[in-house]
Amino acid sequence: MKIIIHGGFFSEFLQTKAIKQAKKAALQKIVLESYAYLKSHSALETVVFATKLLEDEPLFNAGLGSQIQSDGKIRMSASLMDGVSKKFSGVINIENVQNPILVAEKLLYFEDRVLAGEGANLFAQKQGFPYFNPETPERRADYKAKKAATNTGTVGCVALDTEGRLATATSTGGKGFEMPGRVSDSATIAGNYANEHCAVSCTGVGEDIVSAGIATKIVTRVTDGQTLEHAFQKTFQELATFDGFAGAIAIDYHGNIFYQESHPTMVFAAFDGEKITLFC
Ligand code: GLY
Repeated sequence: MKIIIHGGFFSEFLQTKAIKQAKKAALQKIVLESYAYLKSHSALETVVFATKLLEDEPLFNAGLGSQIQSDGKIRMSASLMDGVSKKFSGVINIENVQNPILVAEKLLYFEDRVLAGEGANLFAQKQGFPYFNPETPERRADYKAKKAATNTGTVGCVALDTEGRLATATSTGGKGFEMPGRVSDSATIAGNYANEHCAVSCTGVGEDIVSAGIATKIVTRVTDGQTLEHAFQKTFQELATFDGFAGAIAIDYHGNIFYQESHPTMVFAAFDGEKITLFC
């Protein structure tokens, strides 16, 4: 049983020590709570559980406290992938829900599994997700000051359960100030991908993550026999050829955990039941 979560990037230039400490404490609490949940739930259920907790924490850029787009609206994206069934589901640019990852989870059992914009909003309403405004005063102040708030603080979780099943989930409020209609990597297979060999969740600049096809490339390389470490090295070398900005977390079938970032500093926490690795 293994779990790793991330909370995007931390910038020493844009953020204070107090925020850093608060993020660290939040990651530690969520990783431990999610590990406890994993003991009696599947990897799939657990990545949803952990991502919901991360979405509910306004320190991160997903769910509550998501960044505001250039037209003043919040649009969020989230996706889920089950390494066993190989089913991927997601919502792109959904509005006014508390937990985009729960809408993505609902879609996993439908034939049409990725919905965007108005279609995603209508689906959520029909499924009984109540209206929720994810805006916080801090994000509105950032918007008024015309700055992207927290760099690129997408959230994600990868888990391996007691039966060796892998799953991954990723959720984001986007990059802040983007054009309405811009599609994040977080609900694509570049940002979130899993099979029975490996599961990966990414954070960073969506355009770079898509250009490098990070999550799907790492999983494919591991599936074809590369070690997790080599798969990361090769994929991040390719990202570096255009100075792409990204980070990724992963677990393979053997329970190896790996993470890498192109630039400082991705914030994450991993727990294997004994040792907590906390990077913030
Ligand atoms: N990785 C989040 C985004 O660029 O939308």
